[in-house]
Amino acid sequence: MERTFKQALESRRTFYAIGNDSPVSDDKIEEVVKFAVKHVPSAFNSQSTRVVVLLGENHKRLWNITKDILRRIVPADAFEGTEAKIDNCFLSGHGTLLFFEDQNVVKSLQTSYPAYADNFPIWSQQTSAMHQFAIWTMLEDLGLGVNLQHYNPLIDKDVKAEWSIPESWKLISEMPFGNPLAEPEAKQFSPIEDRVKIYK
Ligand SMILES: Cc1cc2nc3c(=O)[nH]c(=O)nc-3n(C[C@H](O)[C@H](O)[C@H](O)COP(=O)(O)O)c2cc1C
Repeated sequence: MERTFKQALESRRTFYAIGNDSPVSDDKIEEVVKFAVKHVPSAFNSQSTRVVVLLGENHKRLWNITKDILRRIVPADAFEGTEAKIDNCFLSGHGTLLFFEDQNVVKSLQTSYPAYADNFPIWSQQTSAMHQFAIWTMLEDLGLGVNLQHYNPLIDKDVKAEWSIPESWKLISEMPFGNPLAEPEAKQFSPIEDRVKIYK
């Protein structure tokens, strides 16, 4: 990591304008994803998170599949905007990460620890979020621009069929990345005093 951990946290933003000219090799991207998946914690050390890395034609296919599905459901006069967003903010990038949670792991924990059964699906989502955040931050630390999307469950069936995804893997989010082409706008922050309370 070039930056300190704090600097990396501060620098992570949503980059919508992304290109396919990655500043780092695909091997480096793969290394970051595997590093995070290995080291990020999970509830009960469940290790329920699964990540699929789509590069090249596979990345493009994901966004063309998404466009085809949306074309069928978005009103014709609104589709132009939808298509422009997909083309310029997602398809235009270098790759996309698909985050899944393995429901077989969740079910097995529910069976083993019935007292916590209701919590395991929640903890699985939280586990996924931790992975998404770590990878988002690490990719941006490499000089990539990243955003986070949720076209699931609309695309679930087609994604599973296209990449032979195991039936038990539940799609949680899609994370396109590429070289940043424009800086995000300044971010508004709610007063920190309303959000953190200290008692001492
Ligand atoms: C849990 C979560 C879900 C999000 N879902 C989406 C999404 O579906 N589409 C999108 O464009 N941005 C999504 N975002 C990005 C947020 O809108 C963005 O992080 C927020 O506005 C703060 O901006 P920043 O990322 O530049 O700090 C999501 C972020 C989080 C943490």
